[in-house]
Amino acid sequence: MSDATPASESDFLAVMAEVCSPVTVVTSIEDGQPRGSTVSSFASLSLRPPMVVVALGESSKLLAGLRRTRRFGVNILASDQDGVARRFAGRGGDKFRDVSWTETDGLPRLHDAIGWIVCRVDAFVAGGDHVLVPGVVERAVAEPGAPLAYHRRTYGTHSESVRPVR
Ligand SMILES: Cc1cc2nc3c(=O)[nH]c(=O)nc-3n(C[C@H](O)[C@H](O)[C@H](O)COP(=O)(O)O)c2cc1C
Repeated sequence: MSDATPASESDFLAVMAEVCSPVTVVTSIEDGQPRGSTVSSFASLSLRPPMVVVALGESSKLLAGLRRTRRFGVNILASDQDGVARRFAGRGGDKFRDVSWTETDGLPRLHDAIGWIVCRVDAFVAGGDHVLVPGVVERAVAEPGAPLAYHRRTYGTHSESVRPVR
């Protein structure tokens, strides 16, 4: 690791707010008890084998459960699911109350999401105050629809670049 002085937290947060991120709800289940957390650190990692990665805070309840169950589902949220994102970003309470979901592939799958990915945890890798969790993809299902995105601490969606016709 380098000895360089880290950037200030405020500069770091300001530049990261400029990054447009996906919005997912990562889920697990243990003894019939569903868990879920809003996660923007979701990314594609490998094609052969297919793998994704998420980064979870050290104090995340979802992470604690994953250390035991070693399987997770990724629900890629649709543009109108900002309420679902807010719900799963909260702490405490029953996050699944009033949310439509079913147990699919042995994991909580939220209705109306535009993507469903089922993963087996491959490893837990320390990354500062977060833990990287790479997962091998066992099932991947795409549904048509517009994605929910997060940019400058607000929810929105993607639109195609428009260039003037010359
Ligand atoms: C848009 C958005 C993206 C988030 N992305 C992450 C993330 O990638 N990793 C993470 O650990 N927390 C992330 N969070 C915060 C968690 O959703 C939040 O801390 C949640 O309460 C953790 O729940 P848990 O303790 O039940 O796992 C995000 C929150 C928001 C609003």
